[in-house]
Amino acid sequence: MSNNRVQIFDTTLRDGEQVPGCKLNTEQKLVIAERLDILGVDVIEAGFPISSPGDFTSVEKISKLVKTATVCGLTRANAKDIEVAAQALKYAKRPRIHTGIGTSESHIKFKFNSTQEKIIERAKDAVKYAKSFVEDVEFYAEDAGRTDNEYLARVLEEVIKAGATVLNIPDTTGYCLPDEYGAKIKYLKENVKGIDNVILSCHCHNDLGLATANAIAGVQNGARQIECTINGIGERAGNTSLEEVVMILKQHPYLNLDTRINTKMLYSTSQLVQQSMGMLVQPNKAIVGENAFAHSSGIHQDGVIKNRETYEIIDPADVGVTESSIVLTARSGRAALAYRAKNVGYNLTKIELDDLYPQFLKFADFHKEVNNEDLHHLMELNHIHKTN
Ligand code: KIV
Ligand code: ZN
Repeated sequence: MSNNRVQIFDTTLRDGEQVPGCKLNTEQKLVIAERLDILGVDVIEAGFPISSPGDFTSVEKISKLVKTATVCGLTRANAKDIEVAAQALKYAKRPRIHTGIGTSESHIKFKFNSTQEKIIERAKDAVKYAKSFVEDVEFYAEDAGRTDNEYLARVLEEVIKAGATVLNIPDTTGYCLPDEYGAKIKYLKENVKGIDNVILSCHCHNDLGLATANAIAGVQNGARQIECTINGIGERAGNTSLEEVVMILKQHPYLNLDTRINTKMLYSTSQLVQQSMGMLVQPNKAIVGENAFAHSSGIHQDGVIKNRETYEIIDPADVGVTESSIVLTARSGRAALAYRAKNVGYNLTKIELDDLYPQFLKFADFHKEVNNEDLHHLMELNHIHKTN
């Protein structure tokens, strides 16, 4: 694989599904997994098999269903978790066990009541044991974002020797700044023996709204896998959003980093996940929100009508949105009114437009948005007939 390829590891069905009140049943998970495979993600984290019989069944069925992507199951660093994950992944064409343990001071002290040395032993043992079931073993250093770099490097060096193929550096609490997260990845690239034989992975949470920025800083500094979810769903404020990182890499070709994602499927995949989980994204959500390609102020509308690129950096067709929308409000100008009137069949003359515009503004002041039906009504009141 080229060194410029960033692997997309989708965890919608594991970290994403941890959202309160948004559980998916097995059938819904299968539909989403199949879509993710066609979308072109490299890895589908299908669940945490030991967590419940339902999760085990979902991982097993997804393993049977998925044709191209690697299917991954999460475990803690203990033998039972690993055995159950291996069992659930038995039918996968490309199985991966994702095992790991907390490495930050607070995790070692409060979660495990342990020591740094004992944590290294558990990490090594878990990777070795997982390796006895599958070739592809990813190790996560939970709370790596707040873990001392020197200690983190020691842990990673040991798990590489134990056979890990991918090293996940989670900013579990979403605490890091992009500079800091990028510097951490750079430090690991430069200081961990054997690092060039494995893939470094970014797993960022969005508690400060920085999950996407941190993941991008990670790949700019040498990571080659991003863990993300559709619509950025996930614990608390969520995870890195898949559609955002994919489009950032596409829209900035000078970064020389690409993915296998068929971006034209992003909008429909976002819709599928919103509907299945009953969790709608906010209208101003980047890439897939309802307003992501909607223009409502007169100045912007005039520009977009003349040339889309004046106010759009993404061609909506590239993410599967049919076209940009010109929303008619009291902030719209003559150009927008003429454009929308033309779209519904009225080629207005300059005189007609000048007469109609003040009435349109009055109407728009009383209504938030002027829709096609309102436009027909305005034309009728003004005895303007359809031209096409
Ligand atoms: O955020 C995190 O640290 C995780 C790990 C379990 C990979 O989700
Ligand atoms: Zn996470």
